[in-house]
Amino acid sequence: MASPAPQRIVVTGASAGLGRALALAYAGPGVTLGLIGRDAERLEASAAACRVRGATTLTAAIDVRDAAALRDWLMRFDDAASIDLLIANAGAASTLTSAEDWEDLGRTATVVDTNFYGAMHAVLPVLERMRARRCGQVALVASLAALRGMAISPAYCASKAALKAYGDSVRPLLARDGVHLAIVLPGFVKTAMSDVFPGDKPFMWSADKAAGHIRRKLAARRAEIAFPGLLALGMRLLTLLPARLGDAILGGLSYLPRRER
Ligand SMILES: NC(=O)c1ccc[n+]([C@@H]2O[C@H](COP(=O)([O-])OP(=O)(O)OC[C@H]3O[C@@H](n4cnc5c(N)ncnc54)[C@H](OP(=O)(O)O)[C@@H]3O)[C@@H](O)[C@H]2O)c1
Repeated sequence: MASPAPQRIVVTGASAGLGRALALAYAGPGVTLGLIGRDAERLEASAAACRVRGATTLTAAIDVRDAAALRDWLMRFDDAASIDLLIANAGAASTLTSAEDWEDLGRTATVVDTNFYGAMHAVLPVLERMRARRCGQVALVASLAALRGMAISPAYCASKAALKAYGDSVRPLLARDGVHLAIVLPGFVKTAMSDVFPGDKPFMWSADKAAGHIRRKLAARRAEIAFPGLLALGMRLLTLLPARLGDAILGGLSYLPRRER
């Protein structure tokens, strides 16, 4: 059943790509949008486009890895406009560009800190308020890469799998408190992130198409929003195969960095 359209919405990673498209998908008269990202200029460009659609905007140039700064801003936003939808979308990619490439601790920590802890830094303070109010909705933007680790992006797959596992774990607890949580598992979406991805990108969607789809499924209170359907099915089938067969299939599909010699 569709719920009333959210009016006070925060999107992290709203300065570009899918987050910007999500902000625009919700922008309209009567809607207050909190937009978070690091790049103040690109964030303001997103906000200006949302204002053209009639929304009120507040922007915050904050790194989601900065838990204290994020919490302070979110609490101030929530004091003024109690958040009814939080979309934890900010994310960083890391891909191996050759067979010699390897993710060291620093690179791995950057990805996990941004994609997992960055989401936690946004979600946990807001959930405190939503649980007390016994209403609200949270969307965790993970990836279809959460379903099956791939050699082309180990830290990224691990960070998204962690986010999905966390979401699956707390969803029933939050449901008892009247709060809805959805896990978003996008396939390829045309953004700066996918532009630099070195492997094949089957069934890629535009950011606007993905944002519209996510908005509709969140309105329908779906627990998991995985798209496009065929790629989601393929990833789920892969998880049923013996691990080495899955590795071989992914390798054949360009998700294993090639040896030059
Ligand atoms: N594109 C795809 O094919 C695809 C597929 C599956 C899942 N996803 C997921 O979808 C989400 C959006 O990705 P996208 O494709 O739109 O990527 P994108 O175009 O690179 O945009 C990433 C957004 O996250 C923000 N961001 C990155 N690190 C941040 C940090 N430390 N603190 C605050 N904001 C940060 C960026 O803003 P600043 O640079 O201004 O900080 C930007 O607004 C990510 O979680 C990604 O993993 C994408």
